Amino acid sequence: MSPHAPVLLTEVLQALAPAAGDVIIDATFGAGGYTRAILATGATVIALDRDPTVQPHADAVANDFPGKFQLIRTPFSGLADAFSDTGAARLDGVVFDIGVSSMQLDQAERGFSFMRDGPLDMRMSDEGETAADIVNSWDHGPLAHIFKLYGDERQSGRVATAILRRRVETPFTRTLDLAEVVEKALGGRRGAPIHPATRVFQALRIAVNDELGELRAGLEAAEATLAPGGRLAVVTFHSLEDRIVKAFLTERTGNAPGGSRHAPVAVDTRKPSFTLSFKGAREAGEEERAANPRARSAKLRAAVRTDAPAWGRIAA
Ligand SMILES: C[S@@+](CC[C@H](N)C(=O)[O-])C[C@H]1O[C@@H](n2cnc3c(N)ncnc32)[C@H](O)[C@@H]1O
Repeated sequence: MSPHAPVLLTEVLQALAPAAGDVIIDATFGAGGYTRAILATGATVIALDRDPTVQPHADAVANDFPGKFQLIRTPFSGLADAFSDTGAARLDGVVFDIGVSSMQLDQAERGFSFMRDGPLDMRMSDEGETAADIVNSWDHGPLAHIFKLYGDERQSGRVATAILRRRVETPFTRTLDLAEVVEKALGGRRGAPIHPATRVFQALRIAVNDELGELRAGLEAAEATLAPGGRLAVVTFHSLEDRIVKAFLTERTGNAPGGSRHAPVAVDTRKPSFTLSFKGAREAGEEERAANPRARSAKLRAAVRTDAPAWGRIAA
């Protein structure tokens, strides 16, 4: 199993600016790369992860930083409750490093990979619907919909048809079996630069873990929970996620475009709940991109909480 190399660590620390006495939520603990760097500044870390298998990493961190660290097993949607249960008075920073970790990808038995045979699972936690449940039970329409929407698979209907045809004879249980059926439905590899099943596997992973819904819930919870002056840093790895973060920050910093003369909209009188830490997104430099392929698609956006009331739910 390859260790998980934290992505954009220097840039994240700069945006999060943790200091002794601060309380920071690392909402995606993983192997604890960010957490350890934050703890080294003297801040206290409340870490979250929905994956029970990160526990040994958390035990090691707790051992090295006694009294300064705790791990809470919850998805982002439980962030606000988890924070309030800790009894901490003030939250100074929240960081999200969205997506799967190298540990999750590398373990065949987690079922994320179309390169290694394993059970068709893909759950980051150990609860809820698996990828096998989805491909064996969803109708053609919803299957094709997620392949298109979450995977950008142009031949989504053709893949869904092949899946439905095959599952009548034998339900899917293994990753490589599904990868082969998808590959065949798409007419083989034909020199494609990526495996033909890449997009369908990405789509299933996003659906199994409700990754986009969770991201929205996490951003809402951060807004509701951060103290004035608290910092938010979000690292994403594909455009669907980055779009959500960008739209959230554009709206909540008061920069959403108004209506035109021809299509006026009601004037938004809400005060911005965030100010941008920097314009746009920060990306990894040449050195990090060369050393860590995962860093090549990473984008960091960051903002500082104002003292205005939270705006609440993100419009879907
Ligand atoms: C990319 S890894 C984080 C790596 C970490 N920054 C490090 O330096 O080791 C993402 C982690 O977040 C967890 N995760 C992803 N989505 C989550 C969610 N919605 N709720 C809770 N944990 C989540 C995953 O289980 C995984 O362990």
